[in-house]
Amino acid sequence: MILNNVLITGGSSGIGLELAKLFLQNGYQCCLVALDDDRLKAVKEDLINLYPQSRILAYGIDLSADDSADAVYAFTQDQKFYPDVVINNAGFGTYGLTWETDRDTEYKMINLHVKTLYGLTRHYLQDMVKDDHGIIVNISSISAFQPSPYLNTYASTKSFVYHFTRGLQAELHEKRSNVKAITICPTPVRTNFGEGTSMDRSGLFQSWLAVDVDMVANSIYDAIIRGKTFRVPGRFYHLLSYVARLLPEWIQVRIAISTMRPKH
Ligand SMILES: NC(=O)c1ccc[n+]([C@@H]2O[C@H](COP(=O)([O-])OP(=O)(O)OC[C@H]3O[C@@H](n4cnc5c(N)ncnc54)[C@H](OP(=O)(O)O)[C@@H]3O)[C@@H](O)[C@H]2O)c1
Repeated sequence: MILNNVLITGGSSGIGLELAKLFLQNGYQCCLVALDDDRLKAVKEDLINLYPQSRILAYGIDLSADDSADAVYAFTQDQKFYPDVVINNAGFGTYGLTWETDRDTEYKMINLHVKTLYGLTRHYLQDMVKDDHGIIVNISSISAFQPSPYLNTYASTKSFVYHFTRGLQAELHEKRSNVKAITICPTPVRTNFGEGTSMDRSGLFQSWLAVDVDMVANSIYDAIIRGKTFRVPGRFYHLLSYVARLLPEWIQVRIAISTMRPKH
């Protein structure tokens, strides 16, 4: 499959930015979407300097807002930018006991991870199915596989992402479509994610599960190019996740709670 244009939400930092660099290195045109417009513009300037031959678009918008998926789709249509890879990557996390987390922040997270991801997937999928060409990549998490205390709402949104994308891929396969839906479930990644939030208290980003962002971006890029439909970045973690999912749920929850419990 020949791919040319990639849309990356959350393309201004972490996994999204590393992915943008990989795609640009390989001659793609990129449209990056993120919340902080100033940071996004600065990132765009840096990328233009690094890859002057590439077309790079940037669109600052709060993707937790209602109708933001419609606005992103309208922007790309206006710009005549027709992505054949759409990466729903923008996200953030909340941490703590469900009744103690900030409810408004969690509403925003649910909108971002569920409603907007669904909206963007629907918009671009429509075109992709019509053309029988394209790839949707949705970033979930290993926290999606089982109930994840202390990350409860975050992990539940990522469970939606996991099941929605796996179900979509099964439908595409059933209809012998050339369109693919890829589910990515990273372990903790050392990025800005969780920085300055109470998630630091879990010690998760210092644990043996934590991995580097360039490995994760390379693994996602590789999955896209090889047409894989599911990946936990890092071969060891990919295999481990299969084994872990064979355990009874009560053991999985025990492991999750001991991993996520505040360490300080
Ligand atoms: N890091 C991990 O441990 C980890 C593990 C598993 C899964 N993931 C998932 O991987 C994805 C990327 O995470 P990351 O580690 O790369 O995090 P990151 O470095 O914090 O980057 C997050 C990106 O999402 C954007 N974003 C956040 N809220 C937004 C909003 N309301 N509207 C528009 N853009 C928004 C940010 O833009 P601004 O900077 O402008 O806000 C930024 O570009 C997330 O979906 C996350 O859940 C991460």
